[in-house]
Amino acid sequence: MKIQKIVSLLLALGLSGLLSAQDASVIINADQGKHQISRHIYGHFAEHLGRCIYDGFYVGADNETIPHTDGVRNDIIQALKDLKVPNLRWPGGCFADTYHWKDGVGPQNERPTIVNRWWGGTTEDNSFGTHNFLNLCEELGAEPYLSANVGSGTVQEVIDWVQYTNHDGVSPMADWRRANGREKPWAVKYWGVGNETWGCGGNMTAEYYANIYRQYATFMPGWSGSAKIERIASGASGNDYHWTETLMKNVPHELMEAVALHHYSVLSWSDKGPDVGFSEAQYFKTMEESLKMEEFVTRHSTIMDKYDPEKKVALFVDEWGGWYDGDTEKGVLYQQNTMRDAMIAGAVLNIFNNHAERVKMANIAQAVNVLQAVILTDAEKMLLTPTYHVMKLYNVHQDAILLPLSVETPDYLLDGKKLPALSVSASRDTGGAMHVSLVNIDAKKAHSTTVSIHGNDLKTVKGSILSSASLQDHNTFDNPDKIAPKDFKDFKVKNGVLTVNLPPFSVVVLEIE
Ligand code: AHR
Repeated sequence: MKIQKIVSLLLALGLSGLLSAQDASVIINADQGKHQISRHIYGHFAEHLGRCIYDGFYVGADNETIPHTDGVRNDIIQALKDLKVPNLRWPGGCFADTYHWKDGVGPQNERPTIVNRWWGGTTEDNSFGTHNFLNLCEELGAEPYLSANVGSGTVQEVIDWVQYTNHDGVSPMADWRRANGREKPWAVKYWGVGNETWGCGGNMTAEYYANIYRQYATFMPGWSGSAKIERIASGASGNDYHWTETLMKNVPHELMEAVALHHYSVLSWSDKGPDVGFSEAQYFKTMEESLKMEEFVTRHSTIMDKYDPEKKVALFVDEWGGWYDGDTEKGVLYQQNTMRDAMIAGAVLNIFNNHAERVKMANIAQAVNVLQAVILTDAEKMLLTPTYHVMKLYNVHQDAILLPLSVETPDYLLDGKKLPALSVSASRDTGGAMHVSLVNIDAKKAHSTTVSIHGNDLKTVKGSILSSASLQDHNTFDNPDKIAPKDFKDFKVKNGVLTVNLPPFSVVVLEIE
């Protein structure tokens, strides 16, 4: 009777989120892990777009107000090191198929300018080029991923770029690199062969691109003394299964180490909705779009399995994230990052983890000041977004062994539509610790979730949580720590079963030993 009264009171006060339905369960087979979660699933992307490179990462070698290393902000370097960023894709995006790398090396006063035709038509001075990017990756301990120009470039340009960055013997390009101040090659492993070649990369058909790809890939060998390179075919957008099928069928697999896939969580390309101040219906739709990643990855993988049952060719989701109308005043594709973005990050990263056997890399778009950024800057100020915090909580999964699991999830209901409220992934790291990441995307309801683990004791359980009072909540330059992970203790262990109370729109990561 007493409990009923409390329930009615909470409902009357609109505090249904404080009520937990005992309706979710997870079973983890901790003794059956087989596949490693590539750390590269936690990759990032930095394009010459808006304020990502210039006035984002790069504030200029002569800057006297913002502390930097060779022009790259020290606070960004430190934040990305803390995040254990495993790789960084550059220079685009659409920009990549307009970029001529030779214009960005050598003495600054001899570099031509470039008009950024896709992103605002701004004129760039090419002061951030190959050396800056590859040295930055070295500093971060991240693998560089260079996206080569196929749309408006030449095969020779790409051959030269590979030779410039990777050849350690005597050659015209390696000698030029030395003359420009870099003795040792950088040994760049990841090479994209064009970007969105179905669109901004050349508006090609899949069949035409498959032939072009074969031509480029033929001339992109590894060079002596460098790591073997991986060539990544420009991939499908969302559900374009014909694209993946055509590549898998027509490109000899010894020429292609990975096929890409792009998917943005966008309400509609003509009306993307606000970054902050969105309705619950808009939130629901964003999550619906985000969760489509499960279907896309599954179906593209099924096609790949047909042609490559041994899974030698990887799937790289090298652009993903939320895309809203944002703050156009501040620059192209600048947007705030709220708890909605934390939900996207948590749910989509769980999808990638659970597909670790085929998905070997993913790159959230983008690292700084663009789209679903992990870092925002304003002059000398910098903040870490909710997405940053989710990725940091999840980096315990990097290179860990994926543990198979099953989830019984309640639905998140809105206006007669439903989505699975919960998503989960689990892994065991090299030290033997198990990590479970749980996301409750339900905007109103907490979900009490039982977690049964086969093949692992529950000696110690520790947790962290990212949550906030409102879905709209975000960090600002005046209040940069409003959203940050906290210790999580709302769980109990009874008879070997863990019960976790997941608040509405929250991400919880548990460590179990
Ligand atoms: O990330 C922004 C843009 O989205 C990229 O340049 C392009 O590849 C995609 O369409």
